[in-house]
Amino acid sequence: MNQLFARKPLELLLEEMKGENRLRRILGPVALTSLGVGAIIGTGIFVLTGVAAHDKAGPALILSFVVAGIACVFAALCYSEFASMVPVAGSAYTYAYATLGEMCAWIIGWDLILEYAVASATVAHGWSAYFQDFIGIFGIKVPFAMTRAPFDFNPDTGFLAVTGTVIDLPAILIAAIITIVLIKGIKESVRFNAIMVMIKLTIVLFVIVVGAFYIVPNNWKDFAPFGYSGISFFGKTIWGQTGLGGAPVGMLAAAATIFFAYIGFDSISTHAEEAKNPKRDVPIGIITSLLLCTVLYIAVAAVLTGMVPYEKINIDAPISNAFAQVGLTWAQLLISFGAIAGITSVLLVLMLSQPRIFLAMARDGLLPPNIFGAVHKKFRTPWKSTILTGIFVAILAGLLPLRILAELVNIGTLFAFVIVCSAVLIMRKTHPDAERPFKAPFFPFVPIAGIVTCLLLMFSLPKENWLRLLIWLFIGGLIYIFYGKKHSVMHKILNHDKKG
Ligand code: ALA
Repeated sequence: MNQLFARKPLELLLEEMKGENRLRRILGPVALTSLGVGAIIGTGIFVLTGVAAHDKAGPALILSFVVAGIACVFAALCYSEFASMVPVAGSAYTYAYATLGEMCAWIIGWDLILEYAVASATVAHGWSAYFQDFIGIFGIKVPFAMTRAPFDFNPDTGFLAVTGTVIDLPAILIAAIITIVLIKGIKESVRFNAIMVMIKLTIVLFVIVVGAFYIVPNNWKDFAPFGYSGISFFGKTIWGQTGLGGAPVGMLAAAATIFFAYIGFDSISTHAEEAKNPKRDVPIGIITSLLLCTVLYIAVAAVLTGMVPYEKINIDAPISNAFAQVGLTWAQLLISFGAIAGITSVLLVLMLSQPRIFLAMARDGLLPPNIFGAVHKKFRTPWKSTILTGIFVAILAGLLPLRILAELVNIGTLFAFVIVCSAVLIMRKTHPDAERPFKAPFFPFVPIAGIVTCLLLMFSLPKENWLRLLIWLFIGGLIYIFYGKKHSVMHKILNHDKKG
């Protein structure tokens, strides 16, 4: 019992950072911010805005981005406080270990696989769709059997249906290419990311500036056709309208969907160990990248819903299609290209983050250290777990129905945010005098508001997600009982103390 709630002392965490087997410190504030933007702008804005505007919010999608952005800002301030206090590789996992104990840390580490590896698989799937669209413009086609996963979820029947294909080959290939770049080194990865970020920022600015000329204010007249709410409690709508399939609709429900667009800013905290000056630069990176993307997203949502009546917004490629609808077909090519670049960098950063969380867990003995803790001698990257992550992502993206996995990502990430905000509250009480180079302002309002807003968004998601989250956590619980609990460093320390 003691072990389940045993906390890793802050002093030990800071001491460990001085040891061998560390990653290379080469990231400055610009590189960190660029990694943040790299992880944030992708499938969410280029794809999910369509379904959110069309089916859930109408033009009130603009407010959905404001609400989800505010929830993320609260969480980002809490992440920043922690990242400045304990600038090591594990992000939320490490913060939970220091405050809530080993069992909670394991749960959050396991949960973060949803945010990084499962999200990567979702994003690889999105990449494949855009890529096939793009090469299709030039008349090139991937053989049908290799265009998508063999099963998919049919929202009309609620069951899985066979698609007639075998695998999603482009998704597997992109996961393999990214894995190779990641093993080569953090410097190479950051350079590659910076190029992709420049391309996608240019395209997003293009969408905003050019699209603004095609806004018809009349399109905003029916501003919130589905209402401003949309909250359910385990499947029962308690505030707002219910849409097809029983899921809540409305501005808040759309916020829970497009929350996916914001995922990634926290990945900066997983690179704390590679930051030159983590105490200062990680908070700068987290907050700058999030604020920048929030402003861009709100502008894109305003342009999209202003250009096209909400019921005519395309679900698969909403932004490029909006330009086609106003007669700018040439822009379609440009936007598809920007989306591919954008989604590539999201994949890169998410797949970069996952092995760093595994690394922290392996150092604590919760995962086998010879695999997940191995750092390559020459490249100084966690190469074995990078390869494993790549294989996991490729299998999920190539074979599984990603619609289901995609929804899991949101609830898993929101859950992580709730824990980080709670951990800040606890840490201020248990370690009031610890050095905090960055402090979340307006304490305790910010962490409490973070918890409340993230829970609100969790409840706005369809009920199946709760069930899937619980099943995922249950599987994780079994692994902890049969492996982590017996092998953890904390277990050894506690047993040693007992014997001594
Ligand atoms: N925020 C990332 C995206 O939208 C995960 O693709």
